[in-house]
Amino acid sequence: MNRRELLKYGALGLVGGYGLSRLPALAQPSFPQPRALEVLRADGVVEAQITARQSNLTLSGRPARLMTYGGFPGPTLRLREGETVRLNFTNNLPEATNLHLHGLHVPASVDDPLALVQPGESRLYEFTVPRGSAGTYWYHPHVHGRVAPQLYAGLAGLLVVEGPLDALPELKGAEEHVLVLKDWAFSGDRIPAWTPMDWMNGREGNLLTVNAAVRPTLRAQKATLRLRLLNASNARYYRLALENHPLYLIATDGGLLEKPVELSELLLAPGERAEVLVRLSRPGNHRLQALPYDRGAMMTHGGTNGMMGDQGMGQGMGQGMGQGMGMMDHGGMGGMGDTGMMGPMPVMGPTRLETLLTVVAPASPKPLPLPASLAPVERLEPARAAATRRLVLGERMAQAEFFINDRMFDPGRVDIRAKLGTLEVWELVNKTDMDHPFHLHTYPFQVLSRGGKPAPYRAWKDTVNLRKDETVRIAVPLRDFGGVTVYHCHLVEHEDRGMMGVLEVRP
Ligand code: C2O
Ligand code: CU
Ligand code: CU
Repeated sequence: MNRRELLKYGALGLVGGYGLSRLPALAQPSFPQPRALEVLRADGVVEAQITARQSNLTLSGRPARLMTYGGFPGPTLRLREGETVRLNFTNNLPEATNLHLHGLHVPASVDDPLALVQPGESRLYEFTVPRGSAGTYWYHPHVHGRVAPQLYAGLAGLLVVEGPLDALPELKGAEEHVLVLKDWAFSGDRIPAWTPMDWMNGREGNLLTVNAAVRPTLRAQKATLRLRLLNASNARYYRLALENHPLYLIATDGGLLEKPVELSELLLAPGERAEVLVRLSRPGNHRLQALPYDRGAMMTHGGTNGMMGDQGMGQGMGQGMGQGMGMMDHGGMGGMGDTGMMGPMPVMGPTRLETLLTVVAPASPKPLPLPASLAPVERLEPARAAATRRLVLGERMAQAEFFINDRMFDPGRVDIRAKLGTLEVWELVNKTDMDHPFHLHTYPFQVLSRGGKPAPYRAWKDTVNLRKDETVRIAVPLRDFGGVTVYHCHLVEHEDRGMMGVLEVRP
C-alpha cells in the first residue's frame, strides 16, 4: 500500500489494528494496552490519520454505544522530539468536533480550540514536536459546550513524545505501560443525558476502568515498571497508591523531573498526567488503589459511593438533581452534611476506596536502582515577571454557571493580552467550594507555590489542581509563538459551562 492508500484505509478503520472490542484472544492474558497509531515515518516527517466515529464496543462485558477515535482508549500516537508531524483528522461523527493536542507546545493557530471540524470534514494538524518536550500528553475534543459529552463518550487517546533521555538505563530497563484512567455510567448501552447536577459537579460514574478494563491484572515480567498515567475522566479524581510500595514520580504533564520524587500517594486530577517508576520489592499481588478523596462535589450516593448498580445511575442522578436544585433554591448548600442522607439525596463526601488494578510481581524481584538524575528543569525567574495577574475561579451553583474573574467564556472576547517572549506570574485563586483543575493551552508552566508554600520540586505542568479556597502561583513563559489560546477548568463540565478564558499573545 502506498501512503495515500494507507491514509485512506486508515481513515476507514481498515488498517492499523483493532479497537479493544475486536482484539484477538491472547494465549497469555496480558495487561491491555491501547494499540499504537499507525504512522508513516520518513526523513523526520511523520504522517498519521485519526478519525472520530461512533463505536459499538464491549465494556466490562456489556455493549456500549460510544464515540471514539477507533476504540477506547484511542490509538497511542508516539512521536519523537524534533519531528515534523502531519496529522490528518477526520470527523465521521454526526456532530461537530475537533482535536486538541493537550499539553503540546505548538502554535495555537494549529491546535486551535475554537476551530470546528464539521461532520464528514477533515483538518490537517501540521507541527514540529519541540525539543525537550519528551513526555506523556493526550488528545481529545474541544468543542465548547460539548466537551463533556464527547470526552465522556470515549474520545480520548494518548500522545507520547520520546526523547534522548528515555535511553537512560534505569528508564530503558523498565517495563513500560500506559494507564488511561476513566469512569463511566450507562443506562443500558447508552450514556444518559446530562442532568443539571452533572453540569454542576461534573459527571462521575461507578464503572472504573484502566485502559477500558475493569480491575485488570498486570503480570510484571520485570521488577521495575514505568507507568504513564492519564486521568481521562471528566470529573473523577484519583488518589493513587500501590500496596506495599512507594511511587517514584519521574515526570509530570510536561516531561521529566530533575530527579525521582518518592511519594506514598499521587493525586491525579482530570486532565493531568504523571509518570512513575514502581520498584517491586516483594513477590505476590499488589493492588493499585484509588483512595477516598473529597473534591467538594455534591453527589448522590449512587454517583460517588457506588451503592447503586451503574445501571441505575442515570435515573439516580436525575432524581437527585431535582431535589438538589430545590434545596439550593431555598437557601443554598449550607449545613448539608452526609449524615442521615439516604437514597438519591445529594450528599457531600469522599469517594470510596476502589481497586483499579492488581500488579503481580515476578517471583524474586530485583528492581533496578533509581536514576540519580533525570532531566534539567529550567529555573524561571518570577522576580523578573513582566506581569502578575490574578485569576479568580467562581461559580453560581444553582445555575451551574462557572466564572473566571466573574466572567463566563466568550470566544469573541480577549480576557488577557500578553507580550510574546515575556514571563508572567499568574495567581490562581479558587473561591468556590470544590476543586478545579486549572489548565492552560500552548504554554507549559511551573508551579511556584501553593497556599504560600514553595513548590517542593520544579516541574513542567499544563494542568494544576486548586482545592477549595486555595491559591496557587504559577510562572508562565509566553515563548516561541503568539496567537489566541485558552485556559480553563479541566473538569470539562465546568469548561462547557463557562469556566474558560481567552489569552492573546502578541509580539
Ligand atoms: Cu485537555 Cu483545553 O484541554
Ligand atoms: Cu489542553
Ligand atoms: Cu471546575
